[in-house]
Amino acid sequence: MKQNLDWQNIGFGYRKTELRYVSEYKNGQWDEGVLTGEDMITITESAGVLQYAQTCFEGLKAYETADGRIVCFRPDLNAQRMIDTAKRLEMPPFPAERFLEAVDKVVRANESWVPPYGSGATLYIRPYMFGSSAVIGVNPAEEYQFRMFVTPVGPYFKGGLQPNKVRISDFDRAAPRGTGNIKAGLNYAMSLHQTVLAHEEGFAENVYLDPATRTMIEETGGANIIFVDREGRLIVPVSSTDSILPSITRRSIVHVAREMLGIEVIERIVRFDEVSNFTEMGLCGTAAVISPVGLIDDHGKEIRFASGMETAGPVITRLYETLTGIQMGTVEAPEGWIHEIP
Ligand code: PLP
Ligand code: COI
Repeated sequence: MKQNLDWQNIGFGYRKTELRYVSEYKNGQWDEGVLTGEDMITITESAGVLQYAQTCFEGLKAYETADGRIVCFRPDLNAQRMIDTAKRLEMPPFPAERFLEAVDKVVRANESWVPPYGSGATLYIRPYMFGSSAVIGVNPAEEYQFRMFVTPVGPYFKGGLQPNKVRISDFDRAAPRGTGNIKAGLNYAMSLHQTVLAHEEGFAENVYLDPATRTMIEETGGANIIFVDREGRLIVPVSSTDSILPSITRRSIVHVAREMLGIEVIERIVRFDEVSNFTEMGLCGTAAVISPVGLIDDHGKEIRFASGMETAGPVITRLYETLTGIQMGTVEAPEGWIHEIP
């Protein structure tokens, strides 16, 4: 039995579900891990996460397919990215096979919360890890918790497939040679001020330029960026300072475009001053899926894309339909992309 929710209108928010997974790291090893109904966490006031923001997370989704199976999209890549993040933050990596087992357990344990096929909602899975033991000098904690909960979500941006307005941020989200390429909680803490300002001004997101020269496009606060040029090619920004999060959605879109749709893809540095030559722009990520952008505001100067503010442009629409078709099981997936929850 499904939960009794108005699935079409649930929005992107947290709802407490039945069971979450927790594994604790003590004396140099992870314990066997359990599912628990307890959603509250008690830790020391001096925990590494509370004092020095030693925390990281992942985000992936479970989908119900037309024939009633529950599947996840490339969870192995989330497991690996969390390992990469943990290493950079001096946290003990949580083994990939255990991450995948936890996904299976948590999703199955909360299956009544998986939104129905075709509702437009999905089950968001949030793995995270934090330093739980006391620190006072600036050092990594000795104990950690790895946790994973799920919550049903609708579209991340209010309009769904309606084109969004974004603005150029005056602040950076990452430093050159900093932590922009990992999924550290601190990257999001320092984006909150800009996010509040953007929302107050009516923009869905901030576009961050490269932190070294502020002349090149990097990404937004919660999604990578793709463009389409006049020749219909997909232009994918790369970072000169390795400060873009390696989005799994973006890497998948590049493959889908090249190998399945015959779209030419160019991954290269994109200067901000050439963006006005492009015809379409999209934000891509687990939460964002592929959300079209109609205009970028640069301190009052507007860059408008030919695709306009009414609907997504043709290339973004094709990519969106193919990607979501793969995720929901209506388009054949490349080998290894779909993991069925047993
Ligand atoms: N960039 C940032 C800063 C993000 O927080 C996310 C979300 O995970 C993404 C990009 C998209 O990554 P993915 O497609 O792996 O969800
Ligand atoms: C995701 O897409 O999973 C993210 O973590 C982005 C976040 C802004 C919700």
